[in-house]
Amino acid sequence: MPPDIAAPGSGALLARAEFDRLSERGRRFLGSRVAVMGGAMSWVSERNLVSAISNAGGFGVLAGGSMGPDALADEIAGTQALTARPFGVNLLTMHPRLLDLIAVCQEARVSHVVLAGGVPGGAAVRAVKERSRLICFAPALVLAQRMVRLGADALVIEGSEAGGHIGPVSLAVLAQEILPHVAQVPVFVAGGIGRGEAILAFLEMGAAGAQLGTRFAAARESIAHPRFKQAFIRARARDALPSVQLDPRFPVIPVRGLANAGTEAFLRHQAAVMARVDAGELTREEAQLSVEHFWAGRLRRAVIDGDVEHGSVMAGQSVGMVTAEQPIAEIIAELVGQACGALAARHDLAAGRHGLDRS
Ligand SMILES: Cc1cc2nc3c(=O)[nH]c(=O)nc-3n(C[C@H](O)[C@H](O)[C@H](O)COP(=O)(O)O)c2cc1C
Repeated sequence: MPPDIAAPGSGALLARAEFDRLSERGRRFLGSRVAVMGGAMSWVSERNLVSAISNAGGFGVLAGGSMGPDALADEIAGTQALTARPFGVNLLTMHPRLLDLIAVCQEARVSHVVLAGGVPGGAAVRAVKERSRLICFAPALVLAQRMVRLGADALVIEGSEAGGHIGPVSLAVLAQEILPHVAQVPVFVAGGIGRGEAILAFLEMGAAGAQLGTRFAAARESIAHPRFKQAFIRARARDALPSVQLDPRFPVIPVRGLANAGTEAFLRHQAAVMARVDAGELTREEAQLSVEHFWAGRLRRAVIDGDVEHGSVMAGQSVGMVTAEQPIAEIIAELVGQACGALAARHDLAAGRHGLDRS
């Protein structure tokens, strides 16, 4: 149980009740006490972190994207052994064995499946919905509406402030574009969220809850290498930059992470590849593959091996709000406390307890 941050006193209790009311739809959908999802992070979101988030009242999501069916079954069983609370499994729509992975989730009675990486096919949607709730990512209003028609039970809208693979639009804009127009299903917001006041603001705009990644990556329960966690603790928002594409002929899928020797080397690699294409030494296809393969294995290198200089240190702009290696329960309590603190301050203001109303 996380420490209860709402200090006794009617203002704090009222604030907590209001926060719970605002997040009720999200909590009910997730089956959690707090409508905060721990976004799936490859290599980071394994059984220990996921169960810790769910046990602390949030909703953990396993990163199943790069696993095969046996490894996924093992990770789900391992997580279930550590928590009796609901958690989700994140799968990639383009995985060649997607339907097998969904079958593993169904077999293990996973309550929620997140399909990331594009619009899922009808077979995958039907398979998930046989036993689980389906959560999809929607990077634009038209896609949000399409996902709802396809059968998504909830959506995540992730802004470009987020860590990992990103779209071009910030959460501040996506929230305005999507939240007022999608009432059919709960919508969770993600990207750059580091404090409870921000969660409160998005709830008041109509979000059902929030998904955070970066704030949880350096948590005590995270298995990430100590050097990975230290890099997060040291970094500021401005250090978490999207990957740069040098030439429109060779598209680079933008990924936000901490700038390091690896990101510098990636620029030099692109320049060298382009020069070889221009000199007729490489075909365009070979060049594109070479650009795409540059980062292969590098997230693991950073997260597990601790090579934060040459690995991919994916992080959101929220990284500046990671200031210590905290237990998950403390992070969640802090987020709830900040949201409730903001609500309590409003009540105090309305009641004239800040000395502004001297009548
Ligand atoms: C290290 C790292 C790895 C990530 N890996 C994945 C992933 O495998 N699949 C996915 O859907 N999202 C992934 N994400 C995105 C998170 O699930 C989440 O949406 C994002 O971190 C939210 O933004 P924030 O980092 O500012 O909190 C990753 C993020 C980070 C920081």
